[in-house]
Amino acid sequence: MTTLHERAADPSDPEDVPSNPSTAPHLMAVAEARLSRRGVLAGGFLAAAGFLTAGLIDPPAATARPGGGGGGGGGGGGQHGGRLGFQAIPPSSADEVVVPRGYTARAFIPWGTPLLGSYPAFVPGTPGELDLNGVPMTTGNTAAQQAEQLGMHHDGMTYFPLQNGPRGDESGLLVLNHEYTDEFYLHTGAYRSGYLPTTAEGVRKSQNAHGVSVVEVQRRRGQWELVRSPRNRRITASTPMTFSGPAAGHRLLQTAADPQGRTPLGTINNCGNGETPWGTYLTCEENFNGYFRVDGALTGDTKANADRYGVGGDRNKWAGHDPRFRVTPQDPNEPNRFGWVVEIDPFDPRSTPVKRTALGRLKHEDATVHVSRGGRVVVYMGDDQAGEYVYKFVSARNWQSMRAQGRSPLDEGTLYVARFNEDGSGDWLPLVQGQGPLTPAAGFADQGDVLVKTRLAATALGATPMDRPEWTAVDPRTGTVFVTLTNNSSRTAPNGPNPRALPAVPPATTPRGNPWGHIVRWDEQGGDHTATRFRWDLFLLAGPGGGIDGSTVAPEDAFGSPDGLWIDPDSRAWIQTDGTQPAGANNQMLVADATARWDAEPEVRRFLTGVKGCEVTGIAYTPDRRTMFVNLQHPGEDGTSTWPQEDGISTPRSATVVITKDDGGVIGS
Ligand code: FEO
Ligand code: CA
Ligand code: CA
Repeated sequence: MTTLHERAADPSDPEDVPSNPSTAPHLMAVAEARLSRRGVLAGGFLAAAGFLTAGLIDPPAATARPGGGGGGGGGGGGQHGGRLGFQAIPPSSADEVVVPRGYTARAFIPWGTPLLGSYPAFVPGTPGELDLNGVPMTTGNTAAQQAEQLGMHHDGMTYFPLQNGPRGDESGLLVLNHEYTDEFYLHTGAYRSGYLPTTAEGVRKSQNAHGVSVVEVQRRRGQWELVRSPRNRRITASTPMTFSGPAAGHRLLQTAADPQGRTPLGTINNCGNGETPWGTYLTCEENFNGYFRVDGALTGDTKANADRYGVGGDRNKWAGHDPRFRVTPQDPNEPNRFGWVVEIDPFDPRSTPVKRTALGRLKHEDATVHVSRGGRVVVYMGDDQAGEYVYKFVSARNWQSMRAQGRSPLDEGTLYVARFNEDGSGDWLPLVQGQGPLTPAAGFADQGDVLVKTRLAATALGATPMDRPEWTAVDPRTGTVFVTLTNNSSRTAPNGPNPRALPAVPPATTPRGNPWGHIVRWDEQGGDHTATRFRWDLFLLAGPGGGIDGSTVAPEDAFGSPDGLWIDPDSRAWIQTDGTQPAGANNQMLVADATARWDAEPEVRRFLTGVKGCEVTGIAYTPDRRTMFVNLQHPGEDGTSTWPQEDGISTPRSATVVITKDDGGVIGS
C-alpha cells in the first residue's frame, strides 16, 4: 500500500513513521557500508566461511555492463546468457502502459468487473452517497453488487492451472488480493479528495471492495477472458473464517461476538501473497491497524500491544456503522484478529479460509514459500513499517508427511526473526515462548502471547530494524533469498543492511533518510533453508543512479521504492515499484540479473511503465511463463488518470495487465 503522501516522500506517511522503539546498531555510513561489505565479501570471506556450497551460488554469466539499457538501446541479451533478452524502455509519465518492443500488454478484469451471482455491470458511485454536486446518488453499484464484482486495488496474485500439461497454460484460476480502497472513486466515481462513506450501505460497499477474488480465466483465440464459472468467488471483510495454530482460541483473540476466539470474520488490507506446494493461496493482511477507532483509554499490556501495531485512525469510517471496528477497554481484541497470513483453497469455493497463527502477527507484506531439501516448508515474510523486521517460518517436519497425517505444515513449526550482523553474517532468532527473554514476566505466558504480539517478542530478541521490508523472493536456481526495503524517510542513523540515512536538504529540516529504497539478499548456511545462520549482502541501492544519494544503478535504470519482487526460474529478478520515482516518472517494473556477483553492480532493465498515479504490484504467470499477469493499483489516486478507459468509463480502475510476447516466447527471455 502506498498513499499520496508516500509518493510525495512526505514523512507523514503512516508506514514511514516507526512505532518500534527499538534501538538499532548504528555503525556504517553509506559509502563505508557499500565498500566494506563488498570488499569483505569479494575478498573470499564467503568461501572461507563455507557458504559457496555446490549449487548454492552460481558463477555470474558476465560482470561487464552492456552498452546501456535506456531509451530502447539496451545491450545484447546474450551478454547475460539470455537472461535479460529484451530491449529496455525509457521512463514514462504518460497515462498508458508501455512494454518493450515485441510484447503486448492489455488491461484485464478491472475493479467492478462482474464476477458471480447476478453478474452486475459496473456503474460508478453508490446510491445514497452524495455525488459531486452534493446530491444523493440514485445510480451506481450497491454494496451487494460490489460483493459480486472484482474488488478494488488489485495486489498480490497467483495463477493456479486447472489442468496439468499445456492445457493448464490456457485455463486457470487467477486469485488476487484487493489491498485497500480509494473511497472517492468507490462512492462518487470521480476524484474527490477526502471523501468517505457516510451511510451504512456505503460502509458495506467499502468492506465488500476489500478482500480477495478467485477468477476463472481462459485463453481463447489468443485472448484471455473471464469465465462465468461456479469456481469464481469473492472473499470480503465479512467472510467467515477460522483460526488455527498455537494462538487459536487464545484469550487475546476472544471478543464479545466470538468468546471462543476461533471464528473471525473477514480479511482486509490483503497485500502480497504466496502459494503452497499443496495448491493453496496465501493472502497477507498488512495495514489493518488503521481501520479501527479506539473509544476510551486502553491501559497496560493492551495499550502497549495496540500502540506497537498503531491501532486507530478509522481510515474508512467503518467504525460508525460497524461495531466490530470500535475498540474499547471492555472489548479490545478485534484488531488482534487481523495481521495474519490467511490460507485459501481456491479450488473449493465453499472452503473456509484459515488464519494461520503460527506465522505470526505482523503487517504482513507477502509470504514466499520455499521447500527445503528435507521437504520442510519455509515461509519468508516482511513486516512493512519503518524499523520493522524480516521473518521466516519453518514447518516442524516434511510437508507431505504432515499432510498425510492430516496436519497442516503451517500450524506446527518455528517462527524466526532476522538479525543482520554488521560483519555480513546473520542469525535467525526463534520466537519460542520460554526461550531467552520470552518469559511470563515479560508478558509472554504462552506461545499465543508470542504470536499475537510478534513484534514485541521480536524486539525482545534483538532483531534488526529494517527500512520497511516488503516482498521476499527466492531464486529457484541458486536458493539466494531477496527482500525489498522500499524506503524509510524516518531513518536518521544507518545500520549494515540499511546503509542510507541521508541528511535533510535545506530549507527542509526533516531527514531524507533512505528515500529510494534498496534490496538485500542472503544465502542460508550450507544452502539449507531451515538453517539458523546466513550470510547477507546488499544487492542494489535504488535511486537516480550514477552514485547520486549512494544509488548503485546506472542513470538509465533509475528507479525508487522497490516493493513487489519475483525471481523467475532463469534468475531474472522482477522488481515492481510503489513510491517516488526519480524525475517524477510513473511507477514501473524492471528486471535485474539476480546472479550478479557480490562485487559487481547488477544489470537492470526497465520492462514496463505504469499509468499516472498507480503502483505496479503483483505478478503471476502461466506454468510455461508465456503469459504474465501484473497489477496496476490505484491509478489516478491523485486525480490524474482515466486508465483503463473501459466501456467509455473514465473512472480510473485498478486492473490486471496481461503481458504476452508477440512471438509466443517466455516473458523476459
Ligand atoms: Fe502493501 Fe507494503 O505494500
Ligand atoms: Ca509499498
Ligand atoms: Ca506492496
